[in-house]
Amino acid sequence: MQYSIPRGTYDILPEDSPKWHRVIAEFRKLVEAYGYAEIVTPIFEQAALFERSSGESSDVVKKEMYRFTDRKGREFALRPEGTAPVARSYIENRMDIGSSYTKLYYLGPMFRYDRPQAGRYRQFYQYGVEFIGSNNPYYDAEIIAILWNYLTGLGLKKLHLELNSVGCSVCAKEYDKALRDYFQPYLNQLCPDCQERFERKPRRILDCKVKECGDIAKKAPIQLDYLDEPCREHFSEVQHYLDLMKIPFIINPRIVRGLDYYTNTAFEVIYEGIGAQNALAGGGRYNGLLNQIGGKNIPAVGFAGGFERLFLSLNEEKITLPGPPFPEVFIITIGREAQELIIPYLNIIRVKGIYAEYEPDRASLKAQLKAANNSKAYYALLIGEEEIKQKSALLKNLESGEQKLYSLEPISDLIKTIQNKEL
Ligand code: HAM
Repeated sequence: MQYSIPRGTYDILPEDSPKWHRVIAEFRKLVEAYGYAEIVTPIFEQAALFERSSGESSDVVKKEMYRFTDRKGREFALRPEGTAPVARSYIENRMDIGSSYTKLYYLGPMFRYDRPQAGRYRQFYQYGVEFIGSNNPYYDAEIIAILWNYLTGLGLKKLHLELNSVGCSVCAKEYDKALRDYFQPYLNQLCPDCQERFERKPRRILDCKVKECGDIAKKAPIQLDYLDEPCREHFSEVQHYLDLMKIPFIINPRIVRGLDYYTNTAFEVIYEGIGAQNALAGGGRYNGLLNQIGGKNIPAVGFAGGFERLFLSLNEEKITLPGPPFPEVFIITIGREAQELIIPYLNIIRVKGIYAEYEPDRASLKAQLKAANNSKAYYALLIGEEEIKQKSALLKNLESGEQKLYSLEPISDLIKTIQNKEL
């Protein structure tokens, strides 16, 4: 019996892990410069958390959630996204006490049961940040700046930022009414999903992939025309701050985020050239969410992006990321005695953080030298009969061919030479 990986998932193979390390390290470095600290939440949560926050009308909750019942009959779900768990943890750990702002970032797998295709997986890996504690539009812009600076900092060029405002709950009500008025005469022509959306959340019709619905939606009213004064002002301030931060954006009144919790600012970074799943990242403000899941009325804003689409874009622009490292030194021993001599030192060398390879299965000098060259090691360290006698080892620069004998006692000289690439 041979087992295969579940559909819509993938292994990160050893040759790919260095590039994961790199994009994660760059993300951490940048967000920490903005004062964000990492939060790690469980991979599963009570299913109701997502129903209350992401919304029962959203596909993410309705169709895509991996739900399960545990042995005591409790309903859980693999997290489809990170915002609701972060908000849950914020409330549960009383993070509002003692500081008015909380800046959090997270990294980790999310799960959605969707049809897999390029850039869309059932388990995918998100990076995200959440700023909790202020309705100041400055923070909307700062969050967007983090995302933009991260992606462009990696070297990406073929991307653009789309911005919209979905208003507050008051303007959303007005807008929903306008949408219902607009769609009413076409109700019979809409797909069954959209007929249901019409009642529950008419703006989701704008996002429908069925051609007939898309055609009808083309002339639908837009939210921006239904913003009340404070929301209009907020939106214009976000744009002002983005201008100050020199973050280019375009206004797309058609952005409908897939999750229900957004208020005011909504944005996406789109990458041209990676197929249909071209949203590299998305986010927005969610002023009602914390209150909805049992917390105080605390405003918040954030974003998340998927690394899979990020890698697709990096490949598209031929931006190279590191591959597996080469050994700094490759140990070559001739005979058992040489092996006995070097193994204790080999441990010391590795504990010093030097990447040292040793392949004792290869007996002959020729085979070991070949392996050292193939590994692209910087140095070879040879221990043969002569070296045994002198308790020493011969260090050879594999590129220049230069070599020098080093005493093993003390080993510090040899270690220093390898660390500083002095030979
Ligand atoms: P989202 O737009 O649902 O937002 O997902 C954010 C990003 O995750 C997408 O832009 C995409 O890069 C990636 N992603 C989503 N689904 C998949 C998938 N099936 N396969 C591969 N990548 C995927 C959220 O998740 C919100 N929590 C973002 C947020 C944070 N809003 C406020 N704070």
